[in-house]
Amino acid sequence: MEKFENMNAKICDLYKPTLSQDDVLNAYGKWSEGGKYDKELPLGVYNGPRYAAEAVNMYIPNKDARIIDVAAGTGKVAEELQKLGFMNLDALDPSTRMLKIAREKQLYKNHIPAFILETGTPILDDEYDGLVTSGGMGDGHIPPKAMHEMARVVKPGGVICLVMREEFLTSAESYKSNALEHEMLDMEKRKIWIQIARNVVQGYVVNRTGVVFAFKVL
Ligand SMILES: C[S@@+](CC[C@H](N)C(=O)[O-])C[C@H]1O[C@@H](n2cnc3c(N)ncnc32)[C@H](O)[C@@H]1O
Repeated sequence: MEKFENMNAKICDLYKPTLSQDDVLNAYGKWSEGGKYDKELPLGVYNGPRYAAEAVNMYIPNKDARIIDVAAGTGKVAEELQKLGFMNLDALDPSTRMLKIAREKQLYKNHIPAFILETGTPILDDEYDGLVTSGGMGDGHIPPKAMHEMARVVKPGGVICLVMREEFLTSAESYKSNALEHEMLDMEKRKIWIQIARNVVQGYVVNRTGVVFAFKVL
């Protein structure tokens, strides 16, 4: 139990509004060393990747769908997606050191070293059938407005699955006053996407609940 709480504190310490892009690269670069990230977050401790893959499997029936894993890290979501038969996967993550581990596992066709922000990923419009992220949403990580960039790179009819810690919806400084869900709703009003799921799940990470969002791009 104490071990779980220590890990929870370590993770929460990473999601800070003051985190600069260099801080993100340094923190995850260090965590990736010697395979530490994967060893410290096996399934059972961190189940976000499994929930993310299950959501993709539920809402994207075509196993050949071209899917981008945003904030892909060391490839945990792709490992779960491949168990379900999804093999046409690309990864985007700013940490080349996290991506190096994913590359060694040969999970993705393309590895895109970039942050996703409001604009500016080097991806063409409507490039993907689906987009998934687990562990990417929170302070110092993916900002609410980046969901516009996500919707831009997914073709109409495609699906976006976002999996995150539930408490960040209200506790994260950059998502405060429910900014993330307001942005989601605003995008629905502007006919950019439509929400098709919002499910709270148990044991997302170290006994904390998560939330699985899914959207159909319009
Ligand atoms: C907790 S890890 C999650 C990695 C992987 N998805 C998983 O579930 O194991 C968070 C990842 O988000 C990446 N990241 C942070 N800010 C980001 C941003 N703005 N755009 C894309 N990735 C970002 C980090 O480099 C890190 O690899």
